[in-house]
Amino acid sequence: MNLKILGVASSMRETSYSTHALKLALDNVKKNGAETRLLNLREIQLPMYHPEQNNSPELDKVTDHVKWADTFILASPDYHGSMSGVMKNFLDFFWSDFAGKTFGYICASHEKGLTVMDQMRTAVRQCYGWSMPYGVSVNSDQDFDKQGNMTNQKIISRIETIGRDLVVYGSIIAEQYKKDLESEESNTFAARYR
Ligand SMILES: Cc1cc2nc3c(=O)[nH]c(=O)nc-3n(C[C@H](O)[C@H](O)[C@H](O)COP(=O)(O)O)c2cc1C
Repeated sequence: MNLKILGVASSMRETSYSTHALKLALDNVKKNGAETRLLNLREIQLPMYHPEQNNSPELDKVTDHVKWADTFILASPDYHGSMSGVMKNFLDFFWSDFAGKTFGYICASHEKGLTVMDQMRTAVRQCYGWSMPYGVSVNSDQDFDKQGNMTNQKIISRIETIGRDLVVYGSIIAEQYKKDLESEESNTFAARYR
């Protein structure tokens, strides 16, 4: 299958480090044979989640991206040890589309961003999505030059690894989930999504 991977950027900063790292990850995903799209929540601004007010051109555009994807990379700045508000809002809107999908995580933080990625992982698990067991954390002071280019070879290599792993594991999970949806077997978690 031709895996489709959607990168979701959730910083409002034009020169965002997390968005920069996400773009590099998507380049690597492409090199490993998957299709990619970038959804930058700075450019397509979703309204605040409201269950009864769900008509907007922005929501339609984002829905189109989400329905297209088999696999996701979520990129967030570290805001007080948690994900950005726009990322949380995105997850609130689309929780019902995440079952059987694989997720990778990127965070821009001065403190490794572990709690940020754990919180995104928790939200995804709650929606029956699968998460990569590791993420990539970037630090503006240590990993970039003054022009904003990534200079830390270790991080560049980690981004290459996640690009490769997401294509491999994302494909396996997407294929198995599709089979489970199509089969009549009732003893699978996919059965409830038929
Ligand atoms: C509201 C707010 C809260 C923040 N909280 C933290 C924090 O708890 N820990 C941390 O390491 N950095 C924190 N930062 C710094 C950002 O995570 C850091 O500047 C990051 O590089 C921003 O990512 P971006 O370049 O993708 O926007 C905070 C920044 C803002 C604006």
